[in-house]
Amino acid sequence: MVNNSAYRKMIELIFNLPEQLTIGMELGAHFQLFPGTGIDNVVISAMGGSAIGGDVVRMVLSQEINLPVTVQRDYHLPFGVSSRTLCVVSSYSGNTEETLTAYAAAKAKGAKLISITSGGKLAEKARRDGVPLLIIPGGMPPRCAIGLLSVPLLVILNRLGICRSFEPDIAETSRLLKKNLPGWGRGAKKMSRKINNRFCIIYSTSRALDVVAYRWQCQLNENAKILAHWGTLPEQSHNELMGYGAPEFLNGKIVLVVLTDQTSHNRTILRLHQLVKLIDRTLAEKMILKTAGHSLLARLFSLIVRGDLISVELARLRGVDPMVIPRIERLKRALSSLRRGS
Ligand code: F6R
Repeated sequence: MVNNSAYRKMIELIFNLPEQLTIGMELGAHFQLFPGTGIDNVVISAMGGSAIGGDVVRMVLSQEINLPVTVQRDYHLPFGVSSRTLCVVSSYSGNTEETLTAYAAAKAKGAKLISITSGGKLAEKARRDGVPLLIIPGGMPPRCAIGLLSVPLLVILNRLGICRSFEPDIAETSRLLKKNLPGWGRGAKKMSRKINNRFCIIYSTSRALDVVAYRWQCQLNENAKILAHWGTLPEQSHNELMGYGAPEFLNGKIVLVVLTDQTSHNRTILRLHQLVKLIDRTLAEKMILKTAGHSLLARLFSLIVRGDLISVELARLRGVDPMVIPRIERLKRALSSLRRGS
């Protein structure tokens, strides 16, 4: 039996996002900076929930700046990291081994480093190495800290002269969430009932929304403890379309969630409607959701939180605890004992 307080706590964390955005702005504004000159590219090195925060930043910036911004989820750094790379190493716990390995690699390359964490080994190393360190409030599952893992970085990048100020966008996001979270919370209850006991496929219809579709999948995995799959349109209509119908036990059990935005190409939307006609008999449900808000940041968060809420409601329906991720913890422990033994 899962204690009701686990669902309440997770919902509360989602409803506290506007507050996170405010704290994030302040943290970014007070961060001790180095001169922002001589930066050719930005690499954000992170995993899981911490990486999604980096993806939000990457996505928002990619619409406005020419400087390449990459999010790398690996032990390795991408090719081409140099002393002219700003390498942001972000791990909420500060103990993720892939991210710590990437930190060492970035240091060895002489990259300009910034560490973002709530503590752990990353904080220790950054302090020891004199690397600029942004400490964010701890005590929640990393995936719930998405505001703290994105907003301070946007503010810091602005202060480094890499992008414009996103303060109006952050303020809009906060207003939009405060206004809509209660209604989206009620909607999430209904939608979670449609997804329960089915296989959920999430398609993004614009490259701006890829991060959101992936976030939905991760939240369904980690909070609701179900398999789910994300893909993109138009791409999936050139390959995955042929896979609907097999394995047969999935027929009639697929819920297709399609995320749309003003940046979705009108031909992609047309394509979506044609595609749905072709696979209709394999689908139990289809839901087409649209972003709300004006700025891209607000639009991304408008669909991120809806997925977050649905994942918690689904966890409730399934009787699983949305707060804990025991299998991931077990894997991390197994890996760290292997490292110690080797
Ligand atoms: C847990 C979660 C995970 C972690 C990932 C990396 O809430 O979302 O995906 O984010 O295991 O850990 P951190 O973020 O601590 O580096």
